[in-house]
Amino acid sequence: MIGIENNFTHRTKLNNILVSRNKIDMNKNLRYIISCLLLLMSTNPISAQKSQQLYKEPYRPQIHFTPRAHWMNDPNGMVFSKGVYHLFFQYYPDSTVWGPMHWGHATSKDLIHWQEKSIALYPDSLGYIFSGSVVADKTNTSGFGQKGTVPLVAVFTHHNMAGEKEKRNDFQNQSLAYSNDDGKTWKKYRGNPVLKNPGITDFRDPKVMWYEPQKKWIMTLATKDKITFYSSPNLKNWKEESEFGAQLGAHGGVWECPDLFTLNDNGKEVWVLTVSLNPGAPNGGSGTQYFLGKFDGKNFTTTQTNTKWIDYGPDNYAGVTWSNTGERKIFLGWMSNWLYATQVPTIKWRSAMTLPRTLKLKHVDNDIYIASTPVPELAGLSAKPITANNISVKRDYDLSSVVKNISFPCRLNVSFNKQDFALKIFNKTGEELLIGYDEKTNNYFIDRTKSGNINFNAAFAARHTAPRMSNNAVINISLLIDAASVELFADGGLSNMTEIFFPAKPFDQIHIQSAIRLNLNKLAYVEMRSIH
Ligand code: FRU
Repeated sequence: MIGIENNFTHRTKLNNILVSRNKIDMNKNLRYIISCLLLLMSTNPISAQKSQQLYKEPYRPQIHFTPRAHWMNDPNGMVFSKGVYHLFFQYYPDSTVWGPMHWGHATSKDLIHWQEKSIALYPDSLGYIFSGSVVADKTNTSGFGQKGTVPLVAVFTHHNMAGEKEKRNDFQNQSLAYSNDDGKTWKKYRGNPVLKNPGITDFRDPKVMWYEPQKKWIMTLATKDKITFYSSPNLKNWKEESEFGAQLGAHGGVWECPDLFTLNDNGKEVWVLTVSLNPGAPNGGSGTQYFLGKFDGKNFTTTQTNTKWIDYGPDNYAGVTWSNTGERKIFLGWMSNWLYATQVPTIKWRSAMTLPRTLKLKHVDNDIYIASTPVPELAGLSAKPITANNISVKRDYDLSSVVKNISFPCRLNVSFNKQDFALKIFNKTGEELLIGYDEKTNNYFIDRTKSGNINFNAAFAARHTAPRMSNNAVINISLLIDAASVELFADGGLSNMTEIFFPAKPFDQIHIQSAIRLNLNKLAYVEMRSIH
């Protein structure tokens, strides 16, 4: 995360000016608001026209969640309750750069179509509302439930700017808020903060889960360069259980936004601890590593010696899983990177989320990895696939010879016997994105060095790689391509890359390339409907 101080100073000044001006102009403002409302009511056709243009702006994702307007970063508080997926998110409703953090809110019944709701949590005297989680407190351990309701309880970090400016080391503390109307309205707990900072500058992003064997809540908290686990019977009183990771995994930057959950390995339970870190990702900047191991209600232990990453692309950060989804584990990340997130060339809003992904375990030789694949609900947006078998690619193959009208968003699946392969997505002005597999290094790659608008940050234009984990003789690649992003899922989700891009003119062509003759065993192109 960057730019806290500048933004804060700027915001404070602006707020002071606004407060004094408001006092003087109260009546004038009231009259102004009423006349605006009247005007809005009398100009329905104009607002209808506006809403048609909304979500059609250049670079506006058509199959990914974006806020209508303004700044968004991490997904927060993801919980499934009464048939509804809730997505809260780090949100600054006054600007398209990071600032005083709120929790925005959106809901969905299918993980694909989202309805943006009113802001759930506003900054208060204890600070900005940083990342955290939401649980459904089924047995009302917190006592927040009323008349038999199952309260939704948000556990989040209060980030106190004054404390940070004074260079104190205890300005991040964990707090609660609860909702008894399915997330529509929220009350902050009067006893906040519930977990006080012991003097650790980075002490944040609580992810809470119910640990059934010992009937207690477990909070997984990022504490600078490690994870600290806490437990609680009621979400209000927390006891430190253990620490993990100071000497393990990647440590190029501060640890943030952890998650702890189980995945099924042929009937056996494997505990997964995911940890985002910034910087220190394999392709620079922000990324998410994971550890597989055991958890006994107190300690997380692992025998893992290699560093494993959820996604090797540069644009999947701070991802966590939905809570209360039973055996199914669904992961969603923020589709950007702190290296350049505040500079990407979108005007009305900044940043999208990745597609939601199903997480599963897969064995490769003697090791075991997380495989992520887009949720099957995406099929609801998919047109009938256009397929072709045994395509012979000699140097260059124009996809329009099987797909008459290539359009985006779309999904493209290809399968071929392991050898060099490249796919070029481009427009007539020569801007291009190269995606492929390099046999010599056994890496997948995405090259966005010529992808259009690249000058907003020196770190953006680059060729990124992901190691191939699978040793199958056949390579399967599935690409989900939207207006300004591509998500690559190779070998059933064992190697993944997520990248954003900003061509001056939308891409509209796809060619497949190979230096030597390549036989594509199978190809499927799926046009996708917009979610808007
Ligand atoms: C991760 C992060 C979190 C923090 C939030 C602030 O991107 O830095 O650690 O809670 O963003 O917006």
